[in-house]
Amino acid sequence: VLRAAVSLVLEATGADACFLHRWDAERRRLMLAAASAPYDALVGSVTLEPGEGISGWVAANRRPVVIAAGKDADPRYKYIPELEGEKYTSMVSVPVVAPEDRLVGVVNVHTRRRRDFREEDVAFLQDIASLIASAIEGAELLSQLREKERALEELVRTTIQAQEEERRRVATEIHDGVTQQLVSTWYRVHACERLLATDPAAAAGELAATKALIDEALGEARAAIYDLRPATLDDLGLVPSLEVLLGRAFADDDVEVRLDAQPVRLAKHLEVALYRVAQEAVSNIKRHAGARRVTIALLEDPDGVVLRIADDGRGFDLEAYRRKPPGTSFGLAGIQERVRLLGGTLRVRSAPGAGTALEIRVAAGDAGTDGGRSR
Ligand SMILES: Nc1ncnc2c1ncn2[C@@H]1O[C@H](COP(=O)(O)OP(=O)(O)OP(=O)(O)O)[C@@H](O)[C@H]1O
Ligand SMILES: [Mg+2]
Repeated sequence: VLRAAVSLVLEATGADACFLHRWDAERRRLMLAAASAPYDALVGSVTLEPGEGISGWVAANRRPVVIAAGKDADPRYKYIPELEGEKYTSMVSVPVVAPEDRLVGVVNVHTRRRRDFREEDVAFLQDIASLIASAIEGAELLSQLREKERALEELVRTTIQAQEEERRRVATEIHDGVTQQLVSTWYRVHACERLLATDPAAAAGELAATKALIDEALGEARAAIYDLRPATLDDLGLVPSLEVLLGRAFADDDVEVRLDAQPVRLAKHLEVALYRVAQEAVSNIKRHAGARRVTIALLEDPDGVVLRIADDGRGFDLEAYRRKPPGTSFGLAGIQERVRLLGGTLRVRSAPGAGTALEIRVAAGDAGTDGGRSR
């Protein structure tokens, strides 16, 4: 777009050289973004502060400058050797401005021979500059759109991957748990059948064992269903679910658990996501930490919601963890991914012997129709 703009300006004005400086709003300076040959080789290497040189003046004042001859005498003029100002006599410089008075850049035309640019020449150049402004903005919107599209595709990909990973986990759990118990139950019932006629007392014993097996299987099925989708999350919200999570995880262990939770308003999808994060963090604590104390804190701050999960267990070497090849463990990476999808941040603090703390920050989202009040 910028190169096309330069050719357009040259052709339309009959000038000998054209420079298009782009305004970089972040760095607050102009940068040569396109130029007629041979100066196109300098693109990206010439920068000007606001107020520096004629172009800097035009950018700062949003007003055109016309110089028919003797630009050296103009106090605003700055000689830049690479741009060979000495070869050109006359010049016009106009601001390139988008709607809402946003500065897009500055365009300059130069002629070798003296030319007395008239008012309508300047007006014409300004019209071209407006066209250039809208073309640049259009191209930029398009690339932003492409970037968003790419991010969306990435999101769909990671979501599907996470879903598949979850399904694999559930399948394994059903296979190792309830299915195995059903197989054992079948053998017991089979034995019962055989014993029924010959040894009713032994059959009764088998039946009792079978009942116990069924109870166990029921318990496991309930636990698996709860892990899949805790009913408390839908019915009561995040905080009671965290309470149940902590209670269930450490019920049999000599671990002091603590939940510090403020009543925060969260969109439903955030509640679920934070719960999943806590679930993985707690499972890590159970599997790796050997902790004596575990605390979960949920609080609101001006930027959103903070979830902290900390233990005083054996900790781990973060640097060594980061050096591990991807795909060797999924828990922390999954947490990171979830938080990233929510536009939040994750901080992990850990060191061997010094416990582990995860801090997740996310914007609270719109608690609206889909949201609930976490008690
Ligand atoms: N709370 C913790 N205390 C001590 N070490 C931890 C803790 N959390 C994580 N780690 C360490 O970080 C490693 C990476 O954790 P991550 O959850 O990513 O994988 P994992 O638990 O080993 O496997 P999985 O993929 O099943 O979650 C663990 O193997 C463990 O060494
Ligand atoms: Mg893990």
